[in-house]
Order: sequence, then structure tokens, then C-alpha cells
Amino acid sequence: MNDIIKEELIRIGNELWMQGFTPANAGNFSVKLADNTLLCTATGVSKNQLTKKSIIRIDLQGNPIDENNDFSPSSEIKMHIEAYKCRPDIRVVLHAHPIYATTFASIGKDLNDNILPEATLQLGSIPVAKYGTPSTNDLSKSIIKPLQTSDAVLLENHGVIVVAENLKMAQFKIEILEHYCHVLYNLNNLNQSKRLTDSQVLQLIELRKSNKLPGRALIKYSNEEIQFK
Ligand code: 13P
Repeated sequence: MNDIIKEELIRIGNELWMQGFTPANAGNFSVKLADNTLLCTATGVSKNQLTKKSIIRIDLQGNPIDENNDFSPSSEIKMHIEAYKCRPDIRVVLHAHPIYATTFASIGKDLNDNILPEATLQLGSIPVAKYGTPSTNDLSKSIIKPLQTSDAVLLENHGVIVVAENLKMAQFKIEILEHYCHVLYNLNNLNQSKRLTDSQVLQLIELRKSNKLPGRALIKYSNEEIQFK
């Protein structure tokens, strides 16, 4: 089973790298296993060059479990562990540096507009976690509050983190987030945009309810908001 998950992580690493989401060694991924241990990517590895050896099993304190491995856990593993602590409902954490989402993360404002239905439906409003130096407790603690409302978070002046109940949904979320930020960037350049109307947003809220979409999302419209948990 662990081998199948490792193969999935290798595939996702290749795909996110090819999309430009993880330049150099950027990004780190983890999966929580049934026995409450984690599989996580090693530090300093290109996500285009992941191997089964560079995906490491660790405990929830971040200590490697399997011996004789030349690789060490990601330098940002504390952030993943914090995410699992504050979100017992999730099994996957993906961190990456996609260009457009990282651009908006470097403005430091929550993305509250409803422009694309898929982004509103799947992600809702996208909060920013306050800047913390990579690999420090400041970064780990910064994600606690935004993860209460959302599965997709911009890391201020850094990148993004998404959480989900499985790998497929986590990959979809990170791709929807980057696609949305790319469109927002283009709209800003065009100096115009057309937001969804309240009634269009309300239909998306109904859709999210009837499809019983898992995960968290805070959907805001006019002066109202609805929290999906
Ligand atoms: P690691 O190589 O230690 O996982 O760090 C990558 C990264 O994304 C730093 O922000």
C-alpha cells in the first residue's frame, strides 16, 4: 500500500513540476497513513526527481521511522504536522510555489471575490497565512487560523498549501487555485472583471450542499458568508 502511495506522490511531483509549480527543490508533500505515521518528501529534492527512497516514513513528531535512509524529511515538515493536528479530517498536505498564486500571496490579501464558479465551489474565499520564515515554528503556526475555514491557503511572500482527504482532491485543489490566480492576474492586467452575482453564488452554495463536497470552504457574497466544514 505504501508503495502505491509513493508512486502516486512521484507522479504528482512530476506533474506539478512540469506545470512550473515547484522550481528547484520547492514544495513538499505528505500523506497521513492509517497507523498515524506520515509519508513525506525528503528535503532538497526536485519534485521531478522523487524516488521511493526520497519519500520517507516519519512519526507525528517528524522523526524518520525507517533506518538506513540517506534522505532527511522536508525542512517544512513541522508545517505539515501542524496541519494534521488542527485538521483531523485531512489525509494529504501539498505545499508548492506556483507562480500566480505565489504572486498573490506576495500581495498579502485574502482572495474574496467570486469570479470563477469552480474556484468558488471548490475553494471558496482563499485566506493568507501571515509570513513566517520557511522551516520555522512561525510558519507552522501561521497556517492554523486560515486552515480553520479553508483547504487552500496562500503563504504570505512564499507559496501555497492545500489540504484534502485524498491525493486526487489535493492535486485538483492546487491546480484550481493556480488557474484561478492566473485568471485573476490577467483580469488585473485588463483592469476589468465581471464578478458572479449573488444569485449565481447562491446556486453554487446549493450545489456544494447537494453534492456534499468534503473539506472546508468559506463562501462570501455581499455581506453574507457561509462556512462549509
Ligand atoms: P524542502 O526541500 O526542505 O522540502 O523545502 C522546499 C520548500 O518548498 C521550501 O519552501
